[in-house]
Amino acid sequence: MPKTNSTLSEVTIPLLLDKKQKGEKITALTAYDYPTAKIVDLAGIDLILVGDSLGMVVLGYPNTIPVTMDEMIHHTRAVTRGAVRALVVGDMPYFSFHLSEEEAVRNASRFLKEAGAKAVKIEGATRKRLKLIRTLVEAEIPVMGHVGLTPQSLYHLGRFKVQGKENREARKIVKDAENLQKAGAFAVVLECIPLELARVITERLEVPTIGIGAGPHCDGQILVFHDLAGYSNGYLPKFVKRYAQLHDQMREAVRQYIQDVSVGEFPDDGHSYHLGGGVDLDEIKNG
Ligand code: KIV
Repeated sequence: MPKTNSTLSEVTIPLLLDKKQKGEKITALTAYDYPTAKIVDLAGIDLILVGDSLGMVVLGYPNTIPVTMDEMIHHTRAVTRGAVRALVVGDMPYFSFHLSEEEAVRNASRFLKEAGAKAVKIEGATRKRLKLIRTLVEAEIPVMGHVGLTPQSLYHLGRFKVQGKENREARKIVKDAENLQKAGAFAVVLECIPLELARVITERLEVPTIGIGAGPHCDGQILVFHDLAGYSNGYLPKFVKRYAQLHDQMREAVRQYIQDVSVGEFPDDGHSYHLGGGVDLDEIKNG
């Protein structure tokens, strides 16, 4: 019988490091609202990322670029109300950490102070980004790094595709991951890179790697909840495994409801209330 969150202790950053040392896999999923956070937390997930994928998955934007800090804080607050055990990480959206270090630190601190997250995630590993991560870590804000496919660089990349298939790019991704560790990141997300490369990085780093489309050798795995649960019904990348078909089930439920209401089968007596015993209905009708 798998352990649920009532039998497991609260997830902390040292616990994640400990899992890597012991060779135990780290489990992670995204969540963007209270009921989903409750579901994944009760199931026993280690880490919940309130990803900026929020923009595409929940808010209907074409990509993650339009997502704002206020939207991220609003959804992270809902998630931390639902998650009692998992480590909740807030994703720094595009342009929340680009203008100045001061603004970036202020925005990152909002995730902890206003939304109850325990850490933030930042995409990329440029020299300026590494310096920022050092500053955040010094300000007691734990940071999860993110290399490989970084969706906020969409306009640079042209389209979402596997990164690091060629020699030069592969070496750069390894270096970026190492630099993130040196800068103080407590974990590094590896997105959409060849599994051989993810293995090299995972073996080199002391901090855990969390893979998405990066093969089985990472220290942990993360997926977008809506992809895993079949809640969304659009394009599905090769690396996603669907564990349910919520979109189809929910649509069918709504279709049945429409049918029942249309033919007068809902609500029936079992879903309705009656007046109290001593009430004179005629008096009400005539009064
Ligand atoms: O925003 C997100 O959901 C992410 C994960 C895909 C890692 O960054």
